[in-house]
Amino acid sequence: MDDTRGRITRDGIRIYEEADFAGMHAAGRLAAQILDDIAPMVQVGVATSVLDAAIEKMVNDAGAKSATIGYKGYKHASCISVNHVVCHGIPGEKKLKDGDILNIDVTVIVDGWFGDTSRMYVAGKLGRKTERLIQITHDALFEGINAVKPGNTFGDIGAAIQKFVEAQRMSVVRDFCGHGLGRVFHSPPNVLHYGRPGTGAVLEEGMFFTIEPMVNLGRPETKVLADDWTAVTRDKSLSAQFEHSIGVTENGCEIFTLSPGGKYHPTWG
Ligand code: MF3
Ligand code: CO
Ligand code: CO
Repeated sequence: MDDTRGRITRDGIRIYEEADFAGMHAAGRLAAQILDDIAPMVQVGVATSVLDAAIEKMVNDAGAKSATIGYKGYKHASCISVNHVVCHGIPGEKKLKDGDILNIDVTVIVDGWFGDTSRMYVAGKLGRKTERLIQITHDALFEGINAVKPGNTFGDIGAAIQKFVEAQRMSVVRDFCGHGLGRVFHSPPNVLHYGRPGTGAVLEEGMFFTIEPMVNLGRPETKVLADDWTAVTRDKSLSAQFEHSIGVTENGCEIFTLSPGGKYHPTWG
């Protein structure tokens, strides 16, 4: 892959240069705009394949490329994970029902830079329990983001997320993690959403990675279905996820995938 910029740390993490932030902002902005624009289409009776087709068209109309089509044999422009699906849900013909909650995860490539982000949506009426799950998951992502600054460690990020989620008597999924990205989709490090403060690689200015916690109402264990993609909670409890792509700056970080329309609440579509 075309990734020869900057330098690599002892932990194998690429350090990008200041000029590279602009490329990540462009890619991240498009991915986030697509998540804004799909919101009004999330309705009871709509099949998730219809949402995916609309997303694929938005990517193409923007002159960008989908990072997921053709990735390890995956065929779609998004992952759409409904209710107890934790992540990597495959868009299909099943129609959304009243009260279904869903994560839509989109990764685009703009001028060779990857923008990867996901959010929660609801079809129809949002239940009280599910609203709380979604709010806690969103806030957990920001607990992680707030721990990002040079000198802190990746363990600090995971610990902040885990502590916050478990204080709400919800659980953090261990089987999937965030990842470095830039001019490749997935690169070191593995960004764990649990852990101990002060452990793991030290954060440095110029690192680009995702934070994408998955939170379950029940137990944290997952299993992957026979399609080799769909990950579900073993206890069938509901699961939620939010994801941002970020870059470490001198004093903290920049979020590449902020919603242009400020659409984070699932009923703001
Ligand atoms: N966007 C997902 C992530 O956050 C990866 C999806 S890979 C796919 O890392 F092949 F399932 F699309
Ligand atoms: Co990701
Ligand atoms: Co993603």
